[in-house]
Amino acid sequence: MNAPVAAPPASSRSTTKLAIVGAGAVGSTMAYAALMRGAARTVALLDINRAKVQAEVLDLRHGLEFMPPATVEGSDDVAVCAGADVVVFTAGAKQKPGQSRLDLAESTIGLVRTILPGLLDVAPDATYVMVTNPVDIVTYAALKVSGLPPHQLFGSGTVLDSSRLRHLVAEHCGVAVQNVHAYIAGEHGDSEIPLWSSASIGGVPLLEWQGRPGFGPLTASVREAIAHDVVRSAYTIIEGKGATNYAVGLAGSRIVEAILGDERRVLPVSTLLENFYGIDDVCLSVPALVDRRGCDGRIDVPLSNDEYDGLKRSATALKEAARGFGF
Ligand code: LAC
Repeated sequence: MNAPVAAPPASSRSTTKLAIVGAGAVGSTMAYAALMRGAARTVALLDINRAKVQAEVLDLRHGLEFMPPATVEGSDDVAVCAGADVVVFTAGAKQKPGQSRLDLAESTIGLVRTILPGLLDVAPDATYVMVTNPVDIVTYAALKVSGLPPHQLFGSGTVLDSSRLRHLVAEHCGVAVQNVHAYIAGEHGDSEIPLWSSASIGGVPLLEWQGRPGFGPLTASVREAIAHDVVRSAYTIIEGKGATNYAVGLAGSRIVEAILGDERRVLPVSTLLENFYGIDDVCLSVPALVDRRGCDGRIDVPLSNDEYDGLKRSATALKEAARGFGF
């Protein structure tokens, strides 16, 4: 007689709740992306602007027929985040044309100090994902303010930058973006670095990729141009439309899905590094495992000497920036 077939696991997302702090371009797009991808059963939006958050919620609710089953809530009262399994923090000033992400630190850290304690009161067991820029500094500040363990609070880091890198490599090489495995590490910002030495397409190391009919190899000059375009991406988009939102919203939903789905997904999120290749006491991105526990350990990705030097430079830049805010 066949062994009884185990019942399929009850959908872990049937009762999950995602709270998004900030109903601006990033937060509302992230809510839309999470709903469209069925990332959570309940999505709650929090914003100080009651009219805005109520309008975003109405607009999302009117599309529920076209989405996986979900409910949408919203308020200017932090109670709307009560019992959340994941809280994504997107509230903060927008990067203006020509501004660097680090220029936003003072105002965003002020917001973290103001809002985070109330969130912890209503959602003490949630996993916290910081998205607001400068995300590495904000993640470090939020860890200090909250006292949460590093696995429970981390930042979106260079998940978005890595997606930009993969897109440009895929375009140049003529392959599907899903078959490009490559990471941006370090700061989500001007000092970030591509990890070319560990990148691959379909198992072929990128540095050995010879190209295919109609598509060239990834020469050093091509790699340099791609790395430059990745760093400049946000600036270019902001100059054109005032903000970035679609890709960062999708990147945030990807992180939420990895948490709520206990996916053990390798993602370059921004976490507190302790003796990672000798880098200590700074939040920046290296490939890490993301699951129901949050950020559950880093991957010791091999680094070339140049990559290691680049990561150290990124860490130094972030430490100097954080020092200015008393951390
Ligand atoms: C960007 C913002 C999210 O890189 O920092 O688009």
